[in-house]
Formats: sequence, C-alpha cells, structure tokens
Amino acid sequence: MTTGSLLAADLVIAVLAAAGWLGGGAAAATRRRPLALCLAALALLATLARAATVTALARAGWWFAAEKVLIAAPLSLAGVVVAGPRLVRAPADIRSVAVPLLFAGYAASGGLLVTVLHGYPASPGVGLLAVAGVVAATAATWRLLGSRPSPTVSRAALAVAAAALVTGTGLAVTPSAAPAVPHDHRYPDAPPVGEPTRRFTLTAGTATVKAGGRDVAAWAFNGQVPGPELTATVGDVLEVTLRNRDIARGVTLHWHGYDVPNSQDGVPGVTQAAVLPGQEFVYRFRADQVGTYWYHTHSASDVGVRKGLYGVLVVRPAPVTGVDVTVPVHTLSGVPLPAPRTEPVGAGVPVRLRLINTDSTTHRYALAGTPFRVAAIDGSDLRGPTPLVDTAVLIPAGGRYDLVFTAPATPVALFVDGREVYSTGPVSTATDAWPVLDPLGYGAAAPAPWSRTDKEFTLVLDRGLDLRGLLPRYAHTVNGAADPDIPSQVVRRGDVVAFTIVNRSQIVHPWHLHGHHVLVLTRNGRPATGSPLWLDSFDVRAGDVWEVAFRADNPGMWANHCHNLAHADAGMTLHLMYS
Ligand code: C2O
Ligand code: CU
Repeated sequence: MTTGSLLAADLVIAVLAAAGWLGGGAAAATRRRPLALCLAALALLATLARAATVTALARAGWWFAAEKVLIAAPLSLAGVVVAGPRLVRAPADIRSVAVPLLFAGYAASGGLLVTVLHGYPASPGVGLLAVAGVVAATAATWRLLGSRPSPTVSRAALAVAAAALVTGTGLAVTPSAAPAVPHDHRYPDAPPVGEPTRRFTLTAGTATVKAGGRDVAAWAFNGQVPGPELTATVGDVLEVTLRNRDIARGVTLHWHGYDVPNSQDGVPGVTQAAVLPGQEFVYRFRADQVGTYWYHTHSASDVGVRKGLYGVLVVRPAPVTGVDVTVPVHTLSGVPLPAPRTEPVGAGVPVRLRLINTDSTTHRYALAGTPFRVAAIDGSDLRGPTPLVDTAVLIPAGGRYDLVFTAPATPVALFVDGREVYSTGPVSTATDAWPVLDPLGYGAAAPAPWSRTDKEFTLVLDRGLDLRGLLPRYAHTVNGAADPDIPSQVVRRGDVVAFTIVNRSQIVHPWHLHGHHVLVLTRNGRPATGSPLWLDSFDVRAGDVWEVAFRADNPGMWANHCHNLAHADAGMTLHLMYS
C-alpha cells in the first residue's frame, strides 16, 4: 500500500471512529439500545484499526503521523478507557452511557480536526486547544442531558477547558520566526549583459481568441494564446519589452525553468513591481541554457496563466537539422490547446517534439507509431536515453519533455490524455493502457557533482486552517504555515542545499523552485538510478517524499512554490533567500 492510500484510508477510518462514537452516544441518549451498542462496537473496531494505519504511517515517516501519535492517539485512548468498561457492563439503562460515548466521540473528532485543520508539525498549543474543545463539549453535553455533574466536577472541567484554551491559543498563534520577504527588501539591480541580439515586444491585454471553434474571452500577449513563440540561439542576448495595455491586476514575465539573474525573474513584489496598465518593463538576459522553456505572467498568476498569459521559449544550439515542433498544452476555458495538427515528415528525418505542460495539473503524453527517446527533461539533456516503445510519459504542471525520433515511413501521432495533438498521418492506436515511464530509472547514471551538503530543509506540504490573514481560509500549507507567513529558507552562495519535500495531503503538488535546477536524489527512499535529473518542476504525489539538492549559485530572493497555481495562490509559496 502506498503512503498516499494509507493517508486516505486512515482518514476514512478516523471519520468512521468519530461518527461511530457520536452516533452511538446520540442513540444512547434517545434510548435506542441495539443501535447504540452496534455503533459503539463499530467505533471501537475503527479505533483499533487506526492503531495499525497510524503505526504504518509513522514507519513511512514521522511527518505523516506526528499529530496522530502525539494528539489523536492519546485522545482516542482516553475515549476508549472511559467508554469501553461502561459498555462492557452493558447497563440496563443505556442512557447512562450516553455521556461517556459522546466524550469518546468528541475525543476522536478532536484528533481528527487536528489532522484536517492543522497537521504538521504537531504543536503543544494545538494539542491543548483540542483538549479544551473536548472538555468543553463534554461538560456542555453533560448539562444538556440533565445528568448534572457535581458542581466541583463542572467547575474543574470549566477550569481545564479555559486554561487549555488560553494556553493553546497563545502557543498556536505565536508569530513565525522570519518574515517571508524582509521589510527592507529592495528590488535587485539588473547586471550588464551586453548588446541585445534578439528583440521582442509582448503586449498583454484582454482579447477574444478563437479556441476549439468558438470565441473565448482571454488575456493574451499580442492578441494570441499562447503568446508569440520566443526563439533564440545559445549565446544570444534577449531583450523582451513587456507592455500592459489593460490587465488591471498587472503582469510580469517569469522565464519558467530559465535560471536568469534575480532581477529578470519576474516575480511581483520580490524581484520587481507588477507592470500595471500603461506601464512597461524591459527584460534582458543571456540565452546560455539550451532547451525547452516557457514564459508566463507571475502577477495574479493563477488566473493570468489560465486565461492565456503564457508562451514558449526555446533556445536552440547553433545548427539545427530536421523537424522541431513545440507542443504547449493548455486548457483555455475548457478548450484543450493546441488544436490538432498534421504534417507529413519524410522517412529518415530527425524529429524533436518539445512537450510543454502549461496547465496546473499533470498531463499524460503518448507517442504512437515509432520508438523514441526522451532527450531532455525541463531543458536539461539526459545522459544515455534508451529507445522507448509504447510507453507514456507524465509531465507535471510547468514541466517539459523533449521526445526525439527518426521519422519512419509510416505515420506517427502524439496523444495528450488520449486526444491527438500532432501527427504525420492517420494513426489509430489505443494508448491508455501503456505503461508510464519513470524518469528516475531512465538513462545512464553519473556520479553526483558534489560530495557534501551544507544546508538541509524539509518542506511538509498539507492543508490547514490559516487564521493570520483578514479572512480565515483553508490554505495549502508548508510546514503548517501559509504564504506570507512561511519563513524564508536562507542559504549562502556556494552552499550545496538539500531539500526534503513531503506530501501529507491527498493531492499532487507540482513543486517548482525559481532560479535553480535541482538534482533528484531519492523518491520515497529509493535513489534515482538513471541519468542525473535536473528538474525545475516535479510532481510530489500524495504520500511522496522527494530528496533533491542544488548548488546555491544564483544569488537573490527566489520564489519556491507549488505550480498548481491555485495552490500557490492559496498559501503554498515560500522563498529561498541568500544571506
Ligand atoms: Cu512557472 Cu513561479 O512559476
Ligand atoms: Cu499544490
């Protein structure tokens, strides 16, 4: 069983336990004896089963189980100790066990709420809040059911609940150690890059574009979605003038996967101010990385990218032969892009398909009709890629794969989630059942470029209640906090930095660090055995633990976030900062 399914199973069992106790208590209070006994038995079974799932989660990694072991388990145990013996005596008047059963229900619910609303790390404050809630609810129930506890008992319960509430709140809302972006933060200066050799102008504006045969209201660069394809030859100096005609929320250009100097990174509030309607900003950088990249707005990035403010950036080596096609996949108002296209290619011609996922969710790509190799991932060439046949690839949000093959005499077709997007002629093949390539075991291994680590960070991804903003929200969190309250990670230039990324949630988080490519070391404890993988976008699935590392060689303040841009917006953004 994967850790992801364990997490899901444990959650379901926890809900059953809480519901069983609460339902049993309610049945007892209304004197429905068989129902009460039956629900209580179910709750007891679920609680026992939880011991197994929580133990298994703790073995998969303490991050997955901490609050369950430290807070939920003692609460559940208290519930069993109080309710269990009374049930065994099976009193004639079932109503007399209503309060103990409901107490067990509040205890189980308290533990469950800690997991769902707070998660990792388990803090004493949160534990105390849960205790306060359980004690208060039990005392109130006691009163309500008229079985009147003695005044001493009620007073003691009130005192315990109040003390736990006050201490717990105090401990739970202590301010975070370091602000995400320091208050004295200034935008970085642009370093000199020499005379531009490639010039582009991108004007952002609202537009109506044709997609899937209908008119779609979009936000577009130069009136088109995707924006113009920016191409360069390695060594070029790019100059891109960004203008904003009427995007009220502002625009910027972020060069996704391109490790530009910090001042050119296009993150509003961090590397520059957002470009407002009527304003412009000029980006200049040297195209010294070959490969497939893309650009997109980083201002209101969730809605901005979704509505169309993105485009392709390809930097090619000097002489290029054969057919070279970019396939930027996007979903615009429900219409999948690009539109299918067919062009014959002569047998023997080398073909490179540059697959780009500009959506916020994973896509599945399948190339039918020819053996192929994955030549590059996220712009970096792979070492010794071997031919693949009838194999699909999964590309995370923001990620890119370059597939290469020599055109056969028969047609070839590329499918994205089963939809044909590119072909050299008619092909009918079912690709749904194809196995999926695991890039961690593909290609030829090479020794790591360093033998030490200077800094280590752990990012635990989850959901949780965020009460620090103006309105409470159910945020996507990192180490229990949401943007802008996630402390920055501070490194020194030259450090080798290792990140452990843990996904405690039930959904995938495509991780993306700006300004650097990270080398994948392990996933779920298993070392990467194939070609070194230098990624800028990778899917951390539910229950996954990834270890990656990079050299801190690009000073500045860099966004480090989930590339499901709705998640990034809802808290899952932090920063990497050079001291
Ligand atoms: Cu492609 Cu910070 O994003
Ligand atoms: Cu996410």
